[in-house]
Amino acid sequence: SLKVVIIGGGSSYTPEIIEGLIKRYETFPVSDVVLVDVDAGKEKLEIIGGLADRMIEKSGKPIRLSWTLDRKKALEGADFVSTQIRVGGLEAREKDERIPLRHGYVGQETNGAGGIFKAFRTIPVLLDIAKDVHDICPHAWIINFTNPAGIITEAVLKHSPHQKVIGVCNIPFNMRHSTAEILHVAPADVKIEFVGMNHFVFGKKVYVKGVDRTREVLHKLADEKLDYSPANIVSLGWSKTFIESIGLLPNPYHQYYFQTKKVLEKDVQAFQDNGTRAEVVQELEKSLFALYSNPDLAEKPKQLEERGGAFYSDVACSLMDSIYNDREDVQTVNTLNHGAIPDLPDDCVIEVNSVITKHGPRPIASGRLPRVICGIVSHMKAFEELVVQAGVTGDYSDAYAAMVMNPLVADEADSKVLLDELLEAHREFLPQF
Ligand code: G6P
Ligand code: MN
Repeated sequence: SLKVVIIGGGSSYTPEIIEGLIKRYETFPVSDVVLVDVDAGKEKLEIIGGLADRMIEKSGKPIRLSWTLDRKKALEGADFVSTQIRVGGLEAREKDERIPLRHGYVGQETNGAGGIFKAFRTIPVLLDIAKDVHDICPHAWIINFTNPAGIITEAVLKHSPHQKVIGVCNIPFNMRHSTAEILHVAPADVKIEFVGMNHFVFGKKVYVKGVDRTREVLHKLADEKLDYSPANIVSLGWSKTFIESIGLLPNPYHQYYFQTKKVLEKDVQAFQDNGTRAEVVQELEKSLFALYSNPDLAEKPKQLEERGGAFYSDVACSLMDSIYNDREDVQTVNTLNHGAIPDLPDDCVIEVNSVITKHGPRPIASGRLPRVICGIVSHMKAFEELVVQAGVTGDYSDAYAAMVMNPLVADEADSKVLLDELLEAHREFLPQF
């Protein structure tokens, strides 16, 4: 038997992963899938369960599916546990987005002050899940999608007895696909050497069938003003000057750091016109769940592509498949540095190309950080370590340190204002503080 447990199974994203499991059945013959959610997500869980059932039935694959609110029971005999939760739901996300913006700062779910609080709310819950996994199914791998994925994965690796955890994100996948589009080649032929952290990753080299085409991609990126952002964030494009000077492929989230003023202007406008991204997603979810409830629907609807995390299942399922089959292929994951980037601590988590084995990812050494990003990447990693520390201790000074050292905040007085207001707003989800 081969059992996959999906924690946060009531998520509107779940049809993605179900589709991915069905598609890979020949090489990854999953026998049991259990969707788990919390009480507040019960209704959604039932709708998703129904749709997943119909998808599996239509596929004809002998996969047993069930759904439950009993996490411990679900974990019995699990081989893979995917975690895709949002503590406090979209309401909490809205506060992460709205409160900082009201004070003139970037309001985003994984960056700036909002990202810090998403981590604070999530760290205790993920540690709890990891503990259950360790007690109940110690050989299972946790595939963590829960944001901020890199920070959460690092918190588990530093503070949980369960060490079999890998963080994943669709951004490297998206960058590979948009690069393929730029070059008019097949995505499978594109290889990017990634360096950095989750949502702060850079592409260092681009190879197509072994030929280095980095310069060409960088030129085109600047010239063609290509829209390669996921649905959830702005797409301003990059200037030729910026691209040529750094000589690296930025990811869409870098706009928050290198085009802060412009992003803020756009976001203020967008929030006024359509509400925060959380509010947009709430509306999107309403129509998604209406679709999912249709008893005639037995596949992942196209509309799911309007979510920023579209295609995440390809990442999750390829990873599980490669671990299960001990493939030793290369995938981009969030895992322990172990010296792959010598400028960063060995015990921190980086987003890096890794050889995927039955025993987990083996990060591929990428040498010293390019000088141009050495400062900011080191700074961001130090900031992330402060977030992990504060998220575990619940200490006010630790939390303040994380806030003031975030480059999107970095103001002595406003850090306290943001910290106090967000602590108050999220009180019910912050047992450690
Ligand atoms: C991106 C990120 C994900 C994030 C998602 C948000 O693709 O990589 O980590 O969860 O966007 O999308 P949403 O539709 O919820 O705004
Ligand atoms: Mn992501």
